[in-house]
Amino acid sequence: MDFLKDPDIDPAPLADKRVAIIGYGNQGRAQALNLHDSGIDVTVGLRGASGSANEAEAAALRVALIEDAVAQADVVMLLAPDEIHGALYREIQPQLRQGAALGFSHGLSVRFGFITPRGDLDVFLLAPKGPGTALRSLYLEGKGMLAAWAVEQDATGSARGIALAYGRAIGSGRAGLIATSFAEEAEADLFNEQAVVWGAVPELLIAGFETLVDGGVSPELAYLECVGELQLIAELIEKRGIAGMREAISNTAELGALLGGRRIIDDSVRRRMAEVLAEVRAGRFAAELKQEEAAGYPRLERARRENRETLLEKTNRDLGEAKD
Ligand SMILES: NC(=O)c1ccc[n+]([C@@H]2O[C@H](COP(=O)([O-])OP(=O)(O)OC[C@H]3O[C@@H](n4cnc5c(N)ncnc54)[C@H](OP(=O)(O)O)[C@@H]3O)[C@@H](O)[C@H]2O)c1
Repeated sequence: MDFLKDPDIDPAPLADKRVAIIGYGNQGRAQALNLHDSGIDVTVGLRGASGSANEAEAAALRVALIEDAVAQADVVMLLAPDEIHGALYREIQPQLRQGAALGFSHGLSVRFGFITPRGDLDVFLLAPKGPGTALRSLYLEGKGMLAAWAVEQDATGSARGIALAYGRAIGSGRAGLIATSFAEEAEADLFNEQAVVWGAVPELLIAGFETLVDGGVSPELAYLECVGELQLIAELIEKRGIAGMREAISNTAELGALLGGRRIIDDSVRRRMAEVLAEVRAGRFAAELKQEEAAGYPRLERARRENRETLLEKTNRDLGEAKD
């Protein structure tokens, strides 16, 4: 496997380049600040009415309108929401310099055809495997966040060097850069979001909480059992792997996990996971995402409102107040 760290990566391909970071949200803020602290010439590109401009300027970053930031950049990193990448690319395409590099932190918009980059551009992926807040805090601690990298289009012969140097400059080379492709990264990431960590795990916690409460257990204890212990298992898995985590818990918990885990996550779950992967690969989720954006995010807004009002969330708030 191509797995690279700082000593394997030449920083030179980015050293004399001007980088435009488009968007100053979760990833944009962290990547712009990390690049800046690594000595890279960064401009944050924002819309005229952006509320983020003051924040970026207060962090000593140069801020410009998107079209101006793009026009003067050798490397343009698109860090606005994936579903608007198509419209954004159509807007900035006339300003993109001949032979510039266009970067992404998720393969989705290229893999599923929201964008077809111009033939003269280098197109690369540098996808940190976690949120921007952690990317930034790890960088400040002298550590880094693992990231996946790929080249989709190498028009100038420099795309690989720029992708790796970019990964090094945001601190990810301290942890490691893993080679992938836009398609592999996009499909695996969407699969995980739906079927594993972000989709299935919270639903498992909710189902467990509701089962205990329906069985007469107090919401507070049900919450502590089913939700409150998640951080403990995450830390154990991070440090020791899944086998090591299992050996670290009591025999009671280990036997319970052995008997119960596979009863819940059985072959029917694996079959549905395979269906999710097939649907992702067929572009069904990408189409849903575009539709949701075009309609003004009605499903997301409704789900956010409903989720805030559940017994589980009320219990979380009560426990938080009890701790304060
Ligand atoms: N979030 C994560 O943890 C994470 C992790 C890995 C990779 N990624 C990838 O990183 C990329 C950025 O995701 P994100 O979560 O960081 O995005 P985000 O926080 O939602 O991005 C917000 C930024 O995008 C700008 N923006 C929104 N709509 C825009 C539009 N129509 N035109 C121009 N700018 C617009 C916003 O501008 P204003 O300030 O003007 O509102 C804001 O600065 C995505 O490709 C995502 O898949 C994200």
